[in-house]
Amino acid sequence: MKQNSFTTMKWQHNCLCLLNQTLLPATIEYIKCSDYLRVIMAIKRLEVRGAPAIGAAAAFAVVLGAQELVRSHQFSWQKFLAVTEEIKAARPTAVNLAWAVNRMVAQAENYRAETTALLKQLEQEAMSISSEDIAVNRKISEYGATLFTKPLSILTHCNAGALATVAFGTALGVIRQGFQEGRITRVFADETRPLLQGARLTAWELMQDNIPVTLITDNMAGWVMKNKMVQAVIVGADRIALNGDVANKIGTYSVAVLAKEHGIPFYVAAPLSTFDFTIETGSQIPIEERLETEVTTFGNSEVAPKGVTVFNPAFDVTPNQLVSAIITEKGIIRAPYSREIQQLKNEG
Ligand code: MRU
Repeated sequence: MKQNSFTTMKWQHNCLCLLNQTLLPATIEYIKCSDYLRVIMAIKRLEVRGAPAIGAAAAFAVVLGAQELVRSHQFSWQKFLAVTEEIKAARPTAVNLAWAVNRMVAQAENYRAETTALLKQLEQEAMSISSEDIAVNRKISEYGATLFTKPLSILTHCNAGALATVAFGTALGVIRQGFQEGRITRVFADETRPLLQGARLTAWELMQDNIPVTLITDNMAGWVMKNKMVQAVIVGADRIALNGDVANKIGTYSVAVLAKEHGIPFYVAAPLSTFDFTIETGSQIPIEERLETEVTTFGNSEVAPKGVTVFNPAFDVTPNQLVSAIITEKGIIRAPYSREIQQLKNEG
């Protein structure tokens, strides 16, 4: 598959450069993070966002945190663990964050007493997490594209693209591959209120790669389905429970219900690092709630009366019965998900 035409993140000279996603599509600007607290801030502000991208950025944050402790002669195992806990707490829903940080800690464990070797190992592990993400997305894309046997239009929600990963994307990776193979002809992108990841990021990303995209507001999805303008839906995920319940950007659940009503398949594309093998069902997934101002403002304008009560969950959970298939780097799984996901867990 062709490389996408921009870089979401790069590790250069002990600095993590992140494409600032809050400024897209108007401005292309990289943030230089040379300390771990700046990476945490970038994750909280959604300057870097999307489950796998958060995981990879967190891995580099661990490298930066360890470097800072060693440089200031403050390194101890307890202090290092405290830094990793701080990084894990940056956002609660995407399990890739804890997955990546735990992987870094496991690597560090063998070098507790040898800080030079520890820093080297940590950097290598973060580079591996980052390059594995690219390879995994290629696999997901190849498997996913095979689902579409005749050319079709597809709807997606939020941004599960190159911007949400290290490269290619999960759901948008499948779309990229499907488009190259002539299986997907057009993408309908939900704008994705309140932060407009669909309008600002998915539409921009697809246009960068000359993939035909039609932008709609979230409340148009049902009408688009009713009028047979899309024949499938594909989204990414932030956390998948053992029973196949899927947490993803708020609004995903509504799209899944609409797809069921219209007899349209609803696909989820996600790497194994997005599966939480420790929880039975989606009811155990922590759902991030974000600032009220994300809902009461549009751009810089206030669009709601001052003092109004707001509910702003950033994610929802789609029950497994609404999911037609989950595309992973190991292949495509379908119901009964409990059995299939248990098998993925056992294969480790
Ligand atoms: O709040 P965000 O923008 O981080 O939410 C992102 C999503 O919900 C994505 O669909 C998900 O992380 C999958 S990214 C491959």
